[in-house]
This record gives sequence, C-alpha cells and structure tokens, in this order.
Amino acid sequence: MRMVDIIKKKRDGGKLSKDEIEYFVENYAREDIPDYQASALLMAIFFQDMDDEETVHLTESMVHSGETVDLSAIGGIKVDKHSTGGVGDTTTIILGPLVASCGVPVAKISGRGLGHTGGTLDKLESIDGLTVDLSISEFIGCVKKAGVAVVGATKDLAPADKRLYSLRDVTATVNNISLIASSIMSKKIAAGSDKIVLDVKKGQGAFMKSTEEARELAEAMTDIGNGMGKKTVAVVSNMDQPLGCTVGNSLEVKEAIRTLKGEGPEDLEELCFSLGTQMLMLGGAADDVSEAEEKLRSSMDDGSALDTFEKMIELQGGDPRCVDELHLLPQAEYREEIKAERSGHVKKLNAREVGRSAALLGAGREKKSDIIELSAGIELKKKIGDEVVEGDVLAVMHHNDKQKFEKGKKKLKGAYEFSVKEPKAEPLIYDIIGQEEKR
Ligand code: URA
Ligand code: CA
Repeated sequence: MRMVDIIKKKRDGGKLSKDEIEYFVENYAREDIPDYQASALLMAIFFQDMDDEETVHLTESMVHSGETVDLSAIGGIKVDKHSTGGVGDTTTIILGPLVASCGVPVAKISGRGLGHTGGTLDKLESIDGLTVDLSISEFIGCVKKAGVAVVGATKDLAPADKRLYSLRDVTATVNNISLIASSIMSKKIAAGSDKIVLDVKKGQGAFMKSTEEARELAEAMTDIGNGMGKKTVAVVSNMDQPLGCTVGNSLEVKEAIRTLKGEGPEDLEELCFSLGTQMLMLGGAADDVSEAEEKLRSSMDDGSALDTFEKMIELQGGDPRCVDELHLLPQAEYREEIKAERSGHVKKLNAREVGRSAALLGAGREKKSDIIELSAGIELKKKIGDEVVEGDVLAVMHHNDKQKFEKGKKKLKGAYEFSVKEPKAEPLIYDIIGQEEKR
C-alpha cells in the first residue's frame, strides 16, 4: 500500500477501505508517514468527507493505536460523560459525584483548558492537595471506594489521535464532523466505560455554530458508540452564552459545590439534570426520566452527592474542607465591577469572548505550556434576557494583575450586546439523541 494512492483516492471522492485507514493511522502513529502526507489526507477528508463506515474504521484504528483502560474490576455499569467543549461548563465536577451517589460509577478521564475553553483538570486543581495524576490502579481504587474519580489521560490513550489532533490544529482541518466525532469517540472508547453520555454544544462558544450541525455531530458520535457496542446518548445543548454564572477555575469549583448543595444557577442545574438523567438510565439506576430526576434531587437534598464529592477529594489527596468553607479555595487579590453603560436588555453574551476574557485575566492558556492563575475569572451578574439599568453591575472580574485586568475588561465589554426589547429566549436543551423509548 502507498500513502500517495490513499490520498489520491480520497481527493477524488472515493471511499477508503478499513485496511487503508488502518495503514494510515498505524503508520502515522509510528511516525512512518510524514506530516505532509498526513496533512494532505486530512485536507482531502475535510473536503470530501467520510461516510459512517469510514468514520467507524478511523475511530477503531485510533483506539487500537494505544491502550484501552480495563475497568472490569469496578462493579456495575460504568457511564462516562463528555462535553464537546464550552465556557463556564463545570458539569463534570457536579455530575461525577451526583451520579455516583445515585449508584452509577463514574470513572472519568478529563482534559485541560485551551484557548477560550476551560478544563476540568485545571478546575479540580484549585482544591488544595488534589492530584489528577493517578495511576490506572489508583484510579480504579478510587472509583471502587467513592464511586467516582476524575483524572488526566495517560500518553497511551489513543496516541494516534493525539498526533492527528495536533496536526489538524495547525492545518485548519479541525472542523469536520467525521474527524471531530472519531477523535472524541476514540478517546471515550479507549477510556473503558460501558456506556457514554455526550453533551454536544451548539453556539458561539462551540465547534458547531448551528443546531443542525450540532445534531449531525451528535448523530455521528452516537452512531460510532452504538456501532462499537457502547450505548451512547447525546444531549444537544446551547453554548451561545457561558453556562452558569462563573467562568474561571476556582470560581467554577465554588459554583459546582453550590450546585451540589441545590443552590446553583438554574441553567447549570437544568443541564446537569438532563445529562444526569441519561446517565442514570444508561447505568440501570432509573427506568424513566421522572425516577431519575427524583433520585438526583434526593441525593442533592440529603447531602449524599456532596459527601461523595468529599470522599473523592480525599481519595485524590485533596483537602475536603473547602466543600464547607468555600473561602479555602484560591481567591484573587482584586475584584472589580464592570458596569452597564446603557439601559436595556442583554441581547447577547458571546461565550467565546467571555472565555477569551477570562483567559486574558489569567484563567486560561493560549499555549499548552502557559501557567494559569486558578483564582482568576469572571462572575456574570447579567446574562441573556436580563434587564439592565445604566450603572448596574454586569460582571465582577477576579484578578491579580492590573494589566491583565485592563485587557480582560475590554474583551468582556465586547462580549455583551444590548437591545431595547427583551430578546426571544433560546432553549438550553435542543434535543436528546438516542434516548431509549421509556420517557
Ligand atoms: N475535541 C477533540 O478531542 N477532538 C476534536 O477533534 C475536537 C474536539
Ligand atoms: Ca459556570
């Protein structure tokens, strides 16, 4: 087999065979195929697309490029959760303990923040002493004891995807449904859970700008999961504006703890309930939506969700006192209010720009090697639809550096758009793909 023939076939709109896809992935992972040929193939795929079969073969090849985590030592049906990336999205930190406290084990491998999006691992590191670098056996031990653990990926998890994703990033070939779906699903499948719930984001802060595209991505991913024997359900949700009222690492941990206590923002709680319901149904802990919702609610109300979070923190080496004493989490030196310069309604609050603003304050990174400030971030006091009067506080910026603040402030002001009339409300959840019949 020759790489040049594979490139030519895809360039001309042909369908790649399983063998051709395997040949490419295996040899690229081994560095036996140069970046220029891989780039050419990615661009051909970008323009010509891949069908469902090709996408499954690409996913399988990437899974086989590395190790698969064996979670069989943990009893029960393990259900994973993944979000395609957003701003202010702290759902994993809530759902891990919440779902585990309802009897469904959650063994979660998460990522770090990059660009305008935050990462669960960075957020969790706001907790004093907590480590996300556990060995696989420590990870499994933690899930057995607490029902949940959240850790970083090892190098051996879908290494071909790691190489390909870096290449896509610099060759303008990220935004293709087959490539995104296979990239995400290869890591989910290698991570070893039995079933998967996806949160596919649509909007300003997401890969997919329209509901149609997001639905298409959700379908591509559920098809891959189901085709590979891992029942997958996807919730298509809105990411036009940030989720909840905080953006930034320690601020989002505080928001997660409040939500676990039943005192969280409405949108964040709604999304957690929607995803959590699907997780409980897949995990066999509930037969229908109303039973799942009742279980989630009672775990929040009786404190068992929070207890589970404390247990997880302790097992991962962290100080669980922060759960009761939020001030123990990193606090920024300065807080500055951003005030409305006119009256009206908030028409837009661009999630991407808010994410960028938080990153400028120090909460995020542009390059993987950048160091982040865990205490920096933004508290949003006004969101889409809210009425504002000139002089009202729109947001509070938490920072440790005046220069960073000035840059972040300018960005945040640009994220807000106002209208005289109240804008039409957009739904938070557009669709659920692959939910089993019972409702
Ligand atoms: N996240 C991934 O892991 N891969 C993609 O292709 C896009 C988002
Ligand atoms: Ca938030």
